Amino acid sequence: MSARVTWSAPSNIAFIKYWGTKDTERVLPYHASISMSLEVCRSTTTVEVAPGLAEDEIWWLEGGRRTPATGTFRAKAAKHLDTLRRELGRSERLRVATSNSFPSSAGLASSASGFATLAIAVSRAFGLALEPGPLSVLARLSGSGSAARSVLGGYVEWPAGPRGSDGWIAPLATAEDWPLANVIAILETGAKEVSSLDGHRRAPTSPYFEHRRALVPERLATVRQAIAARDFDALATMLELDAIDLHVIAMTSVPPIFYWNPATLAVLEAVRHLRRDGVSAAATMDAGANVHVLCPAAAAEAVAAQLATVPGVQALIRDRVGSGPRPEDLDLLETPT
Ligand code: DP6
Repeated sequence: MSARVTWSAPSNIAFIKYWGTKDTERVLPYHASISMSLEVCRSTTTVEVAPGLAEDEIWWLEGGRRTPATGTFRAKAAKHLDTLRRELGRSERLRVATSNSFPSSAGLASSASGFATLAIAVSRAFGLALEPGPLSVLARLSGSGSAARSVLGGYVEWPAGPRGSDGWIAPLATAEDWPLANVIAILETGAKEVSSLDGHRRAPTSPYFEHRRALVPERLATVRQAIAARDFDALATMLELDAIDLHVIAMTSVPPIFYWNPATLAVLEAVRHLRRDGVSAAATMDAGANVHVLCPAAAAEAVAAQLATVPGVQALIRDRVGSGPRPEDLDLLETPT
């Protein structure tokens, strides 16, 4: 009998960033990273084991329609399916349909949630209920290291590994423990010019790479402590420092990478104004221009109202810390084509 399952998994935003890949084969970082899993931004994937197929069927859903995946998206998903089969010791072909809760045009990386949900749904379709540790390895073998952190909810650490456990992720706190909000300012909607993959490759060419690497252990300790103590101010300082350092490294890599645009600086300025007015808020950016503004849940309204006035902000996504992957009572393979 062929099993059909649907799971969703969250996107995540890093507080201490993964930037630079030490082992590209196993997708292992130079140092640990810490992130918060989101609730609203997530990917949902239906997988069916279909031994009769000549090749994997991969569908993409948008605007209520199901269309065959094409181009880079298909190539990456197909490669990950091969990796998952190899790692799980299986050979059957698969039918897959996947969708994101946020528009693909929002310019938000969907690879973390997309590859995490693929790893979970494929292993479930094969009848395996894997622990988050081995699932995180399957997720990151997609090439998207940050996908490792999307197999858990709440606040998550991805250790540098292998240390016997091959860099298994570890939960630091649940969403209920500390209900932070994340207001995402969408400033750019196209695909980024330089992929994270290239950014990771170039990172060690920056003269600041080793400098940040030396600072990371202390930053990780501060963020772990801030999460344990629900100390927003301590988190805010570290999170902004580390985000800016990632971009300093990108801008000083050879050749340099500029992810920010003028609106990025305008949002950073607005966040400083919010703080001056007594609103707790802190900004972080991944490898792109968009800004994630973290704040206590009670401040989200004020943060969103302020960000909406910043020129260059095209849209806001009101997100928050989420509880992680879950089975969904849906069948995306039934969506009309
Ligand atoms: C800047 O290699 O996981 O977001 O596959 O594009 O999602 P994608 O990137 P990945 O690198 C993520 C880099 C980062 C920082 C982070 O999430 O830790």
